[in-house]
Amino acid sequence: MCAAPAPEPAPSPVDALVSVERRGDGLAVVTLSNGKVNALSTEVLRQLHAAAVDLTDDPPGAVVVTGSDRVFAAGADISEFGGPDEARAIGGLFRTALDAVADIPRATIAAISGVALGGGCELALACDFRVASNRARLGQPEILLGIIPGGGGTQRLTRLVGPARAKDLVLTGRQVPAAEALAIGLVDELVEPDQVLARALERAAELAAGAVAAQALAKRAIDRGLDITLGGGLDLEQQLFVEVFATDDAALGVQSFLEHGPGKATFTGH
Ligand code: COA
Repeated sequence: MCAAPAPEPAPSPVDALVSVERRGDGLAVVTLSNGKVNALSTEVLRQLHAAAVDLTDDPPGAVVVTGSDRVFAAGADISEFGGPDEARAIGGLFRTALDAVADIPRATIAAISGVALGGGCELALACDFRVASNRARLGQPEILLGIIPGGGGTQRLTRLVGPARAKDLVLTGRQVPAAEALAIGLVDELVEPDQVLARALERAAELAAGAVAAQALAKRAIDRGLDITLGGGLDLEQQLFVEVFATDDAALGVQSFLEHGPGKATFTGH
């Protein structure tokens, strides 16, 4: 008797270039997996946007964004470049995707094991915090292609490290070694290469255990405040200060302080 023919392999689903793992501990990990260098192709940017919208609609406790061991992301997919029309489309996708990442209403941490260049650095800048390998390199090398950053590199980088340092990086295109990135505030913490994801998850877990609804309002006040005048920012803070008192966690946190002292509250996230 003939052996039954082997079943046809199921058709493979379209490969996810950006995957979102919602973990049992309430954290979400967004992982880029696009070939050797995680180029941020238009399809990667579309998937990144969809991931950020999903994490905004149904927020986890905190989010870690990561790439591969060698490359966080090497920037826009240069093979898709053409003239001004392509630039308009690619720039528009960067704007939409990275704004959506920046707007996730939870703490976001970029875990940078390898290089983060161009759009890769811009993606890291759209996160709230950056944990990097002590062998990582970051930079905005667009000028070496005769172009300028188009994913926020002239704006978010400047707000983080100041105009002179941003101009140094953007006008020379040089790659910043990890120690210098830490010194100028481009990254927040350096760890051994094999500890990057673990440390980012540890920080994310600490944040996720906090009052995440209040964190979302604080993040919004800080980020929106950077776009407007001091007076406008202070007005926004007042508005959100009132709003936060409508959360369960505010009632719980204040009551816990009065009954048990500081830092003892267990928050619900609502
Ligand atoms: N877009 C498209 N392809 C890219 C790319 C990008 N941003 N960055 C690298 N690649 C491709 C290379 O052309 C090469 O393709 P090949 O294997 O078909 O020859 C492959 O990825 C590997 O790159 P390579 O330079 O050989 O690997 P490496 O390990 O020596 O260096 C990087 C990796 C990321 C440090 C280096 O490729 C680099 O500096 N890339 C450009 C970064 C950049 O300028 N970003 C801004 C874009 S606007």
